[in-house]
Amino acid sequence: MDKKTLKTPIWFMRQAGRYLPEYKKLRRQKKTFLELCFDPKLATEISLQPIKRFDLDFIILFSDILVIPYALGQDVTFKENIGPILPPISSSNELNYKDSKTCLKKLEPIFETIIRLNKRKKDKKLIGFCGAPFTVLTYMIQGKSSTTHNFIKKEIKLRRKEMLQIVEVLVDISVKYLSEQIKRGVDYVMIFDSWSGVLKENDYELFITLPNKAISDEISRLFPKVKKIFFPKGSNREIFNFINKVNCDVLSVDSYVPQKLLEVAKEKNITLQGNLDPKLLVSGGKKLDSEIYKIMTKFKNNKHIFNLSHGILPNTPIENVEKVIKIVREYEAN
Ligand code: CP3
Repeated sequence: MDKKTLKTPIWFMRQAGRYLPEYKKLRRQKKTFLELCFDPKLATEISLQPIKRFDLDFIILFSDILVIPYALGQDVTFKENIGPILPPISSSNELNYKDSKTCLKKLEPIFETIIRLNKRKKDKKLIGFCGAPFTVLTYMIQGKSSTTHNFIKKEIKLRRKEMLQIVEVLVDISVKYLSEQIKRGVDYVMIFDSWSGVLKENDYELFITLPNKAISDEISRLFPKVKKIFFPKGSNREIFNFINKVNCDVLSVDSYVPQKLLEVAKEKNITLQGNLDPKLLVSGGKKLDSEIYKIMTKFKNNKHIFNLSHGILPNTPIENVEKVIKIVREYEAN
């Protein structure tokens, strides 16, 4: 079928969250963010909130990438206006990973949420997800968010073996975690590598490309029909190494989309997902309109899912979200 007889689907990374008044209302029912993630009834309602309001094409499971360190026995809390806090570990010996079944059991409420969503998804596609090993590792090692990532960069130089051992555990549990999500009914899995841009060359190969490839290969082997979305954010030119090795159905892109990436994606039949700057969605106005048209034109010869280049920001006005959806839905390629 000609690509442009199909409408471009649209959803937003972090589409359920604090920019929605209905989310803030449900959020107040639980003391902690993880309690919310582990309450199937509330997590189901929250996952469906952006669909009810905007009729988006994809539902993403409401959860967080840091449920994996939690399942591995690391204490995870989310502090308001600060972010995640974990007691940092320095080697895989500190983890509780003798038995993956016991770890996955702690995530059972999330699988229950997926079962509920699967019953209510109608014609929408349901996305399950996990964090990519390196991105999850940064939180496990640093114990919090970081802007410079100097500590993890130093650790992977000085204590490479220990860091790779943790990555190995993360690859293994991520495959098992995604497999359970798929068995309960997700149509797509997305692997968020939000901090992949921190690494270059050989470090990128070892900590980004190879772990993502291991997850992709194993999920493809076990579930050949399930679609895989990868998001190696900030990878810049390393992205070509990534897509040469990691088998992906959809590549979520940030602002780095050179012509060559459009061409390689087309050759490899990879759908590109992106790439509106979430700050423009906050500021709105004519600049937002013209950027949406620019994006639709840029991706017009590729398979494309409209999305952001990173998660939606809490101060995003609802009207701007409505406007983007309207423009994308009414857009006619010529
Ligand atoms: O997309 C969705 O709507 C599904 C839900 C989702 C959340 N986090 C909910 C959330 C998804 C897919 C994530 C992924 C996630 N979590 C990533 C990868 C994507 C990215 O944004 O880079 C990362 C790095 C995290 C880790 C994380 N979780 C941080 C750093 C924070 C604090 C900063 C922030 O945005 O609040 C969180 C908390 C978090 N995850 C919230 C939500 C709705 C806010 C918590 C609250 O409401 O109290």
